[in-house]
Amino acid sequence: MSGDLEEMSAFFNSRAVRYDSAHLAGIDGGAESKRVIASFFPERAETLIDLGIGTGLELEAIFGRFPDIRVTGYDIAEDMLKILAEKYPDKMLDLRLESYLAADFGRAAYDVALSVMTLHHYDHGVKTAIYRKIFDCLRPGGVYIECDYILSEYEFDDPQKAEDENFERYRQLRAEQNLDDGAEYHYDTPCTVGNQKEMLAEAGFREVKAVWQVKNTILLTAAK
Ligand SMILES: C[S@@+](CC[C@H](N)C(=O)[O-])C[C@H]1O[C@@H](n2cnc3c(N)ncnc32)[C@H](O)[C@@H]1O
Repeated sequence: MSGDLEEMSAFFNSRAVRYDSAHLAGIDGGAESKRVIASFFPERAETLIDLGIGTGLELEAIFGRFPDIRVTGYDIAEDMLKILAEKYPDKMLDLRLESYLAADFGRAAYDVALSVMTLHHYDHGVKTAIYRKIFDCLRPGGVYIECDYILSEYEFDDPQKAEDENFERYRQLRAEQNLDDGAEYHYDTPCTVGNQKEMLAEAGFREVKAVWQVKNTILLTAAK
């Protein structure tokens, strides 16, 4: 990926209308990668926090299994959230137009926390800080599920080298384009499975496992 980097919310707002079909066609695992998520929820799940909820592609199967689940969803792209709200007028959705980087998720409030195809834009420090907030906002026995673009031996002999190169390229592009240090831009910097597990363990999670994979789309579960 090269060319001018786009600020994160502008990137997704400008693609919101065609997002669902373009995204599902573009990711490894396609629609199945959204459907499978609900099967990793605990037996009884009443409350869900979904970070980077977008148009809510992951919600169809979740509502299929838990019709009455209460969902708190964070996103910075207003046009993505508008599409989501139109899809589910009768569901208990609390949509917050706010960055999950800055938001306070509260404490012990949710049975499940979820992030789908959103955290591969952030570095280790940012992610570990988010994982700590996620850990705190889960109830004891709660589960965190992340289904994302994650680096593994599927594509790379040396996933760590690939991760390091992506972060370095992103750093170079930001410097070349003289970008605002305080803003987030759309650029993929996925991490390795091993680094993902380490960051989650550092945040306090136990039983961190990769439980599903199609090529570069990997689903991790982590228990509080
Ligand atoms: C690739 S989409 C994924 C949407 C949905 N979870 C899915 O799997 O289809 C990434 C979403 O994360 C959102 N996002 C990125 N950074 C964010 C941030 N810091 N806070 C809140 N949302 C963010 C984007 O606006 C976008 O809607």
